Amino acid sequence: MSEESDKEDALEKLRKRYEAESSVAKSIEGWTNIVFSDGSPDAAIMFIGEAPGADEDASGVPFVGRAGQKLNEMISAMKLDRAAEGSRGVYIANVLKVRPPNNRTPTPDEAMSDGAFLEEQIRIVSPKVIVTLGKPAANYLLRSTESMGSMRGVWHDFEGIPVMPTYHPAYLLRAYTPENRRRVWADLQKAMMKLRELGAIDF
Ligand code: URA
Repeated sequence: MSEESDKEDALEKLRKRYEAESSVAKSIEGWTNIVFSDGSPDAAIMFIGEAPGADEDASGVPFVGRAGQKLNEMISAMKLDRAAEGSRGVYIANVLKVRPPNNRTPTPDEAMSDGAFLEEQIRIVSPKVIVTLGKPAANYLLRSTESMGSMRGVWHDFEGIPVMPTYHPAYLLRAYTPENRRRVWADLQKAMMKLRELGAIDF
């Protein structure tokens, strides 16, 4: 069996376990769809956001609303392709897999509880590089309480995988300044350079 179908089987089992066991999905009311992931489990890069919003809740797919359009632009600027398999592809997930009411920030308990599923997802996909989007995702994965400003732009580590925190595309849309665009692009370029250094992409 191919490595990719092994990953797909393991992710499908994890998704079923999430449906059966997530205390967050049980305790939060009003969500419509579990938003588990999008993209290729064979991708070299994984993007991690915070939680589904209204568009994602309606479709069951992460990052499909306005922030998702911005993320797609970021992915294209990196010469990657959200629809591609393999090294040009991307894998996208969130810390929380159901939408919190009124898009509120996940509580620390919710992040810890659903985050355990995210960590298993990361271990299965085994990306070469992780880019976290926004403060909650970086704080969760790095077990940190630091600000975005101090975390972004430098390499961190999750179980041996290099992690680059950057601003959430929704924040970028709200604060669309040349400075913030430059910062995000600098972070993404570092991620591309790391992928090249690791021999994970050949373009
Ligand atoms: N914001 C997120 O953090 N994740 C999504 O899937 C959509 C918006």
